[in-house]
Amino acid sequence: MTAISPAAAALHSRVASFIPAIEWPVFSGDIDAILRLKLERNAVILAHNYQTPEIFHCVADIVGDSLALARKAMDVEADVIVLAGVHFMAESAKLLNPGKIVLIPDMGAGCSLADSITPDDIRLMRQRHPGIPVVTYVNTSAAVKAESDICCTSGNAKAVVESLGVPRVIMLPDEYLAQNIANQTDVEIIAWKGHCEVHERFTPGDIRELRAAHPGIIVLAHPECPPEVVAEADFAGSTAAMSDYVGQEKPARVVLMTECSMSDNVAIEHPEVEFIRPCNLCPHMKRITLANIRAALEGMRHPVTIDPAVAVRARLAVERMLAV
Ligand code: 13P
Ligand code: SF4
Repeated sequence: MTAISPAAAALHSRVASFIPAIEWPVFSGDIDAILRLKLERNAVILAHNYQTPEIFHCVADIVGDSLALARKAMDVEADVIVLAGVHFMAESAKLLNPGKIVLIPDMGAGCSLADSITPDDIRLMRQRHPGIPVVTYVNTSAAVKAESDICCTSGNAKAVVESLGVPRVIMLPDEYLAQNIANQTDVEIIAWKGHCEVHERFTPGDIRELRAAHPGIIVLAHPECPPEVVAEADFAGSTAAMSDYVGQEKPARVVLMTECSMSDNVAIEHPEVEFIRPCNLCPHMKRITLANIRAALEGMRHPVTIDPAVAVRARLAVERMLAV
């Protein structure tokens, strides 16, 4: 067996409550290579909250929800950004920092929401609802963003909708996010039929069963969950907002109705909190591994490119969001 380097051993201490020492040699070779390659390539790794703990806690330089990753991508000075997340997140980084090489370790890391809508669909919505502004969730392609007036994330959707100062908006593609925001604002929202394949699977019955089995449990839900689920939860917010809630409120027992790695990452930071972990895996997020992050840095693959004519318009929609 290969010896574990001091650097990899030190990183293991960050995740020792989750990854047993006996399993660490599976990861340590890739970790050593990634640490070396980051220096050689002058690269940083941005990782979403749904990345697995050995990525999130051990090789990432910047972590967060979609909004934080977009904001922080703008300020990256390194030559290369590796986006450990899904394709639309890598596109957002490229839009906001176009001079950098942005790599995504697996081009197949998509998103059911991004797949649910095309630029033609938006043009059709505009024909049906003339003059109504289009607010587009960042979980979409750059081509879809280019057809939009402004973007939003789960962390700022209500503020973005209300910033427009109009009585009605089109908000797409996530039907449940749109309904959850409609429940918090007087602005009328016209929705689309897209769903997140991870969050649409949670039901109010799941929450009732959890409360019966674990008295006193605090239930946090992502706003991509159906409104009936959000209604039964104690709190709903973006992945960053859920993480902050645990850090600030320190509930004795908590469940996060979201992607599985999120609980793992937050639990590692809060050993005093008991996490109950029924969760759903995002198959797209799980395409990113230490092995393909290493391969991305070794072979400088897969660079994200965006048609310049599309990028100009898509960037405007994202920048308008960031100005809210
Ligand atoms: P956040 O913006 O809350 O991190 O969510 C991104 C996502 O893909 C949720 O499924
Ligand atoms: Fe898309 Fe849902 Fe996966 Fe997030 S969790 S990337 S919204 S499929």
